[in-house]
Amino acid sequence: MGLLLKVFVPLLGLVLAFYFYSAPENFSEEMLRGKRVIVTGASSGIGEQMAYHLARMEAHLLLTARTEAKLQKVVERCLELGAASARYVSGSMEDTTFPEVVVKEAENTWGGLDMLILNHIGHSYFNYFNGDVEHIRKLLETNFLSYVAMTVSALPMLKESEGSIVVVSSLAGKAPGPFAAPYSATKFALDGFFSSLRQEFIIDNTNVSITLCILGYIDTESAVRSVSHAIRVTPAPKEECALEIIKSGVLRQRELHYPPWTMGSVLLLRAIAPDFLDSLIRSSYNVENIRRAQPTGQ
Ligand SMILES: NC(=O)c1ccc[n+]([C@@H]2O[C@H](COP(=O)([O-])OP(=O)(O)OC[C@H]3O[C@@H](n4cnc5c(N)ncnc54)[C@H](OP(=O)(O)O)[C@@H]3O)[C@@H](O)[C@H]2O)c1
Ligand SMILES: *[C@@H]1O[C@H](CO)[C@@H](O)[C@H](O)[C@H]1NC(C)=O
Ligand SMILES: *[C@@H]1O[C@H](CO)[C@@H](O)[C@H](O)[C@H]1NC(C)=O
Repeated sequence: MGLLLKVFVPLLGLVLAFYFYSAPENFSEEMLRGKRVIVTGASSGIGEQMAYHLARMEAHLLLTARTEAKLQKVVERCLELGAASARYVSGSMEDTTFPEVVVKEAENTWGGLDMLILNHIGHSYFNYFNGDVEHIRKLLETNFLSYVAMTVSALPMLKESEGSIVVVSSLAGKAPGPFAAPYSATKFALDGFFSSLRQEFIIDNTNVSITLCILGYIDTESAVRSVSHAIRVTPAPKEECALEIIKSGVLRQRELHYPPWTMGSVLLLRAIAPDFLDSLIRSSYNVENIRRAQPTGQ
């Protein structure tokens, strides 16, 4: 039975993967023209790059993050690149009232919404778990609960437009490595919530797609700064990553795996040989470069 599962499940996975990856219709940039899109965490990194792609595709953009000065610059650049319109709301997703404020802004300006791209993350540490429970509570608010709250506020508009929800997650949300326990927990929460919600949408004919994006190591400034000393992997380009996220969302795919071959093989190994995968992941870290933080003596 165990062996059967070990052979059959991955084989089935392969067949299904082939089916899902070969079937989707072709992407064209016109698909985004005139669409009303919210991008969170758009002041830097992958979110900023998504805003630029969407601007070139002539979408209407509402961007959000905390840092107003950065958002102003990104909005300016989006207008230069050809966005149908671009504006921002600044604030922190740690503030429980803010998700609704952002969605209300879309409602007031556009009277509707076609795509909700949930991408922001709060700061966490890259190190051994330090026992700080309060940090995880805050991080869940920013990385998970605000995604839920924005979805709840945006759902009436997304139902109306038969729109899409795009949730940016990580390999840490499917097959975690060490030194990211709080972050990893928030990403698993996203999978649990949004994969269950997708099932409900199908059952009650709610035509709103949910795309979960499983990303590997991407060359954003913040990721490189926090992990490059410890991870022996070359990061993938944020520009291409951003484009793949937009494509998978508009094509209404259930999951994006980027970079595709790395993520594909990792997820397959996870199903057939999880201990072996864990050891492979551990061996891709320079553990000696991780300095255990001193206990805070509380
Ligand atoms: N880069 C990678 O290697 C990698 C790998 C796997 C998955 N991902 C995922 O990809 C997404 C983007 O990552 P990234 O590397 O592009 O990160 P990033 O460059 O650090 O961008 C994070 C964004 O979130 C905003 N943000 C931070 N704290 C916030 C808060 N409290 N409230 C609202 N917004 C806040 C930041 O702007 P402000 O500071 O101005 O608020 C920024 O716009 C994340 O979901 C991440 O988990 C990235
Ligand atoms: C997608 O594009 C390819 C090559 O341009 C074409 O052969 C194929 O028929 C297209 N598929 C669909 C579904 O339009
Ligand atoms: C769901 O919405 C998409 C986008 O509007 C549309 O292409 C598709 O035909 C719809 N599906 C159903 C079953 O109505």
